[in-house]
Amino acid sequence: MSTATLTPPSKVKIGPTKLLINGEWQAAASGKTFATINPATEEVIAQVAEGDAADVELAVQAARRAFDEGPWSKMSATERGKLLFKLADLIEANRKELAELETLDNGKPLGESIKADLPLTVMCYRYFAGWADKIHGKTIPINGPYFCYTRHEPVGVAGQIIPWNFPLLMQAWKLGPALAAGCTVVLKPAEQTPLSALRVGELLMEAGFPPGVVNIVPGYGPTAGAAIARHMDVDKVAFTGSTEVGHIIMKHAAETNLKRVTLELGGKSPNVVFADTDLDAAVEGAYFGLFFNQGQCCVAGSRVFVEEKIHDQFVEKMVGKAKARKVGDPFARETMQGPQVDRDQFDKVMGYIEAGKKEGAKLLAGGGRVGQKGYFVEPTVFDDVKDEMKIAREEIFGPVMSIIRFKDLDEVVQRANRTMYGLAAAVWTKDITKAHAIANRVRAGTVWVNCYDVFDAAAPFGGFKQSGLGRELGEYGLQAYTEVKTVVVKL
Ligand code: NAI
Ligand code: MG
Repeated sequence: MSTATLTPPSKVKIGPTKLLINGEWQAAASGKTFATINPATEEVIAQVAEGDAADVELAVQAARRAFDEGPWSKMSATERGKLLFKLADLIEANRKELAELETLDNGKPLGESIKADLPLTVMCYRYFAGWADKIHGKTIPINGPYFCYTRHEPVGVAGQIIPWNFPLLMQAWKLGPALAAGCTVVLKPAEQTPLSALRVGELLMEAGFPPGVVNIVPGYGPTAGAAIARHMDVDKVAFTGSTEVGHIIMKHAAETNLKRVTLELGGKSPNVVFADTDLDAAVEGAYFGLFFNQGQCCVAGSRVFVEEKIHDQFVEKMVGKAKARKVGDPFARETMQGPQVDRDQFDKVMGYIEAGKKEGAKLLAGGGRVGQKGYFVEPTVFDDVKDEMKIAREEIFGPVMSIIRFKDLDEVVQRANRTMYGLAAAVWTKDITKAHAIANRVRAGTVWVNCYDVFDAAAPFGGFKQSGLGRELGEYGLQAYTEVKTVVVKL
């Protein structure tokens, strides 16, 4: 498929493939391994130790010890920050190798791993490194002869379950605030993409994080993942993934120790394009907002509401761009879109394309598989999509755009909100009144005005409704890793 290959996949350096528990690399207690697959070729990259409840038990014990007895809880906040800065430096120094590993395991174009995933990952660790020694409580004037103050203490052992769409970045969103706050961690990478997380485990050790502070247990969801969510000695669980599993995580927490729960789940984000907008910018933004990362983004702008007056022009431009999008070898320089992450995701996306056709949406671009090997899907655009169609209601998580017409502001606000999700939204307009109407009235955790997918470690991120619980990133994200303790002293 490719001509100019940036790095031949066979040259990519594979890091550790075992469990990291208490600073040591070890096989699973069961001795089992699982294969991680290159989604561009369907070939096995490596066998990885398959963690399960017995391994999670050891990992939680190690994290518990590092937290309860030290060294982590005895280390100064400044020292914790220094270690996080060191980790950020090591990731930056190894960025080429990590980007290649990410692309090999996940399938995203190498250019994007280099330009987006790696810098955002480094930025996230640095941002939280800066917080480590700036986490503090308040003194509060209460009635009577008392001195009252609060301490913002680490919540304890954090269980972190992450997805495969941005493996390194999601690991950073989880580890950054947890470590800055002084928590210890048991982290489970997604079974589709364990390799980059394990390589970061090696860099964590190199940076000098004490044994047991971060434990990494690759494995499957219902086994290793559920063992983390159910564990009585895990104080908090942070999860990113499907809304379906989000419900399961909360149930596990409810049935065990009421561990704190934060969830980043699915979305069906509305992207509203008004007729008064800069059309080319809106087309570009909507194209990027949906097709970026093979459409595998929780914030994907998968419901593109276009005002009737400009509908035909918008569609024509979008279809042109979708057809010109180069799909192929993620290691090739010209590739804009790689494969979906695995067979399940490929089948799911193809199933939605079939549903769109069957329910009468107008297929204007794509709709098929690319090639015979690898999980490649054509960039697909459906027009005349109706709100009640499956493709307008459910998260597709693939390169499939639904264009939906609308007439006026009140109508589009109502329709944008008619969903169980509330993760993100965007609006394209030159009219400041319309921009703020959408920003204020659409129920979503993030609203982008005349832009899309703008992320920063300092800006909080999370969902309304069934898109999640709590926030990650920024100061709000840090709060999810602390408990507030009130101390009252008689004077
Ligand atoms: P998933 O929710 O099953 O997997 C995400 C993570 O949760 C993985 O680490 C997995 O091993 C773990 N997990 C699965 N079942 C678990 C359980 N019972 N207990 C504890 N942990 C568990 O998502 P999956 O199956 O990979 O993808 C399904 C759909 O979820 C996608 O098509 C997409 O719609 C959505 N998704 C959303 C993401 C987001 O960024 N919000 C990321 C990945 C998937
Ligand atoms: Mg699943």
